[in-house]
Amino acid sequence: MANIRKIEFFDREKERWEIMQILESEPQLLNFIYGPINSGKTTLITNLIENLPDDYVVFYVNLRRKSIIRYEDFIRVLFAIEEGGFLKKIKNIFTKVLKHITSTGEKTLYKSHGIPVDKSLLETFFKEKSNEDVFNYLVEYFKNIAKHKTPVLVIDELQMIGDLEINGKLIYKLFNFFIGLTKELHICHVFALSSDSLFIERVYNEAILKNRCRYLLVDDFDEETAGKFLEKYGFTEEEIKLAKDYAGGKPALLTAMIDEKKIRRNINDYVEKGLANSKEEIAQLLYYIKTIGVTIKYQENDIAVNYEGTTKILKNFSGNDFYKYSVITPELCYLVSKNILFVDTREKIIKPQTRFDLLGIREILKEIDEI
Ligand SMILES: Nc1ncnc2c1ncn2[C@@H]1O[C@H](COP(=O)(O)OP(=O)(O)OP(=O)(O)O)[C@@H](O)[C@H]1O
Ligand SMILES: [Mg+2]
Repeated sequence: MANIRKIEFFDREKERWEIMQILESEPQLLNFIYGPINSGKTTLITNLIENLPDDYVVFYVNLRRKSIIRYEDFIRVLFAIEEGGFLKKIKNIFTKVLKHITSTGEKTLYKSHGIPVDKSLLETFFKEKSNEDVFNYLVEYFKNIAKHKTPVLVIDELQMIGDLEINGKLIYKLFNFFIGLTKELHICHVFALSSDSLFIERVYNEAILKNRCRYLLVDDFDEETAGKFLEKYGFTEEEIKLAKDYAGGKPALLTAMIDEKKIRRNINDYVEKGLANSKEEIAQLLYYIKTIGVTIKYQENDIAVNYEGTTKILKNFSGNDFYKYSVITPELCYLVSKNILFVDTREKIIKPQTRFDLLGIREILKEIDEI
């Protein structure tokens, strides 16, 4: 494996600085990290966690890893199940975990593993089905850690539990818990990551998060950064121009192109295929809307997605890369749910998820006009 040149973490100085400022102050607000799909949210937070000083203990929970359809699934993902009775009672959990934290200074011990808990306690949580117990337990848990270190809780892919109901929506209980940890007790930093900004907006409005949270946008790289990133991996000027024109600054596409180049594949072929795929996907969606009819859940109702309304939205991109919106219509909601468009609900901006999507939309619009 010695020959494999790994793509290294690149840039994000501004975002890292901002998050470090937050981590160095007392926990006050719940932090939402949002941005288009594949913009590098998870990569940024993971890299940051790995380089944190020993004073922090990070619990990283990724809700996408498992399918969460029941309360039990959520609990299992939230807590790392310790096999073999590593910890027996709640008291033991605290002392042992704390001992470990204070003696080894290991900061990423629980990364990707959720929160350590012993199996018998987990059984109780399942049996009683009481999420109050779970959250009370967690508050005590973080309080104890906070005596020695700064706990940081990261919940990635938050939208995965969007519709989960346990005597009412779980998500709101979770948010109350987050607010308790941050705004009320100031004991733990909380970061919630999601590319589904409409979901975040809904939660924000319904869970009364006003003045209780902060938003951090992790967007695709800007042109200059994208150019520098590709230069580092030996891209020619011509290749960089091609990449920027077709794929923009989407980190996942840039790294895919770096890998393509490594195996001596042509960047031109890559971008042509990428554009063709996006175009086909959008054309297919429009076809379904026009000929079969598509509905979307909108304010708890099933609403038919209107074809003209959809193409009207897309027409905003014939001359612009983005536009300012005033209201979220069912059509907009649909294009966002299909990951064609990204809504920045803070800045009130709509843009295609990728540059491939932008160019695909433009080509389709031309074809529609010709018909
Ligand atoms: N700062 C970076 N430096 C180098 N590569 C990066 C960087 N950020 C992202 N990438 C690349 O882009 C890919 C996608 O990033 P990542 O999974 O972090 O995006 P995301 O925003 O979390 O996506 P999703 O919306 O699906 O959760 C990574 O696997 C990595 O290859
Ligand atoms: Mg992610």
